[in-house]
Amino acid sequence: MKVFATGKEIREHYRIHELRQPGLVPTMGALHEGHLSLVRAAAECCRMVAVSIFVNPTQFNDPEDLVKYPRTPEADLQMLSEVLRENDFVFTPSVEEIYPESDTRVFDLGEIGEVMEGAHRPGHFNGVAQVVSRLFDIVRPSAAFFGQKDYQQLTIIRELARRHYPKIEIIACPIVRESDGLAMSSRNKRLLPRLRERAGEIYRTLIAAAAMASDFEPSEIKDFVADRINMIPDFRLEYFEIVEDATLKPVASVWEMSPEKSYYGCIALWAGEVRLIDNIEIGLR
Ligand code: PAF
Repeated sequence: MKVFATGKEIREHYRIHELRQPGLVPTMGALHEGHLSLVRAAAECCRMVAVSIFVNPTQFNDPEDLVKYPRTPEADLQMLSEVLRENDFVFTPSVEEIYPESDTRVFDLGEIGEVMEGAHRPGHFNGVAQVVSRLFDIVRPSAAFFGQKDYQQLTIIRELARRHYPKIEIIACPIVRESDGLAMSSRNKRLLPRLRERAGEIYRTLIAAAAMASDFEPSEIKDFVADRINMIPDFRLEYFEIVEDATLKPVASVWEMSPEKSYYGCIALWAGEVRLIDNIEIGLR
């Protein structure tokens, strides 16, 4: 595996090896098994894989969150060296490489950018769209791999690609969970041990909520989730929303739901000072 910090080095690599258009796995580092599952999926279908590691400042609506975001560069490269092949590469750009000048682009993401994370983290998805488009422009991948844990982000990137990068295939990979069900996330590293012990309750609550879908109204399921999460000491629910998969339109009544469509129950919560998100597919029986 190679490590490059600039687009120039990447272009030179493509020229020397007469290879182009890798499968791209964009990350912000602090890698875990969830990221590695994306890298393995990319290696299975692409002759060359690129993994970017870049903590993107423009997607942090809270400056303190940017400072506290975990950074483990040596461990990341060590993990990647065990799965990447000779001509695969890691792209570790500086802020100046990604944003030679300040990025003032505003992406009109429509309603999919306004609900859930969009409502609670203003500007977040515009920053995600900025960095992903810069990565697409520099790396020029044939496909890009994203985890389903960030379900809304995935939907937004699909829309970004549909509008601006129609030749890049967006591939969604399943959520990877710890043995107690907690969705793997770089932010889990920041959980205090006593909060980490309680965090398996998040997925158990999502499973219970999904099982209620055919018999209860979304408002009742939301109350159930809020009660169960807020009952865990030092946990606080930010939102739980049942949304239609592609449009992310929140479902107001069970009568709006169709057995032919897919729905997701999406949750955001605070465990102490750490904000976690997760989701579960919800079907009607
Ligand atoms: O999901 C992430 O880690 C980030 O939002 C992404 C897609 C790498 C963009 O910075």
